[in-house]
Amino acid sequence: DLKVGNVAAGGGHHEDEEYPDPFPDDEEYREHLAEEFTSLTHENYMKWEFIHPDEWGDFHFEETDAVVEFAQEHGMNMRGHALFWHSQNPEWLEESVEAGEYTQEELRDMLEEHVRTVVSRYAGCIQQWDVVNEVFDDEEEPQLRDGSYEESGNLWIRELGPEILDDVFEWAHEEDPDALLFYNDYAVDGTNAKSDAYYELIQEQSDRGVPVHGFGSQTHLSMQYDFDPEDYQANLQRFEDLGLETAVTEIDVRGELTEEGRMSDEDRAGAAERYGAVLESCLELASCNSYTIWGSLDEHSWIPGTFEGEGDAALYEGDYERKPHYCINQQVL
Ligand code: XIL
Repeated sequence: DLKVGNVAAGGGHHEDEEYPDPFPDDEEYREHLAEEFTSLTHENYMKWEFIHPDEWGDFHFEETDAVVEFAQEHGMNMRGHALFWHSQNPEWLEESVEAGEYTQEELRDMLEEHVRTVVSRYAGCIQQWDVVNEVFDDEEEPQLRDGSYEESGNLWIRELGPEILDDVFEWAHEEDPDALLFYNDYAVDGTNAKSDAYYELIQEQSDRGVPVHGFGSQTHLSMQYDFDPEDYQANLQRFEDLGLETAVTEIDVRGELTEEGRMSDEDRAGAAERYGAVLESCLELASCNSYTIWGSLDEHSWIPGTFEGEGDAALYEGDYERKPHYCINQQVL
């Protein structure tokens, strides 16, 4: 009973000249998606700043629809990403909130309308949602993000309090009772303080009957940090034991680039091993229902633009050429 949907691609970037979106016009890329993957995720288009580019009230669905239609046409699944996040909120929203232009009630209504509108629009087409993304910070004792707006603060939690987390899951569940609703984060690639914090939060919410169904490990790995596959699996296992689904939601394995613009051979071999070990863990776990890679070609990967000097993180390079990692994944499968 293989539940892993092979791998999924980012499936679209924003209108950025340095980071263009191949999805709308690049036929070869679209064919590659259809041939190689069984599931898709919008890398950016489902985020608040793309759905509400200009002002409140105006929902922008052109790009999100196009990817969902493509997935439907090709019989692919979809993971929706993300309804509630501290990052990539529209500037107008951050500014208005900072200027105190909304009451708590108005803000809560906006969030509710967003969640209900988006989830109901795609009910039946999006099987799993990253409902809440990256809600804990990276401190030694992780706290729910409520700090400043810049970078690390989650404006929703700051303005509406942590209780809002229950509501977001409830709203999503009401709009699509069949969809699996997830928490999702990075740096939860083992049993650590951050994954402990999720474990406790989800346990509490489940006890209260909040419809949380899954825990997603983004799995953005770097060859500059250690990785322990056993601990990776043990972490997902404990969420499974809580009765949750689990998923590998955004895997990529980056490394320091050499002059040739790729990792050292040693790092590459290590990266291939990690891709395979994570897939193996996912297959071992009854709860692990998908394995999503965050962008398929290096050319389209977010890594070089975000982590200076690092890259070579995806499964394909150049002319859609499969890296050795790909074969390791094939063997595991
Ligand atoms: C990244 C996208 O890949 C970039 O294009 C964008 O500029 C920033 O966000 N965790 C997440 C994803 O949950 O949404 C992030 O995606 C990568 C880290």
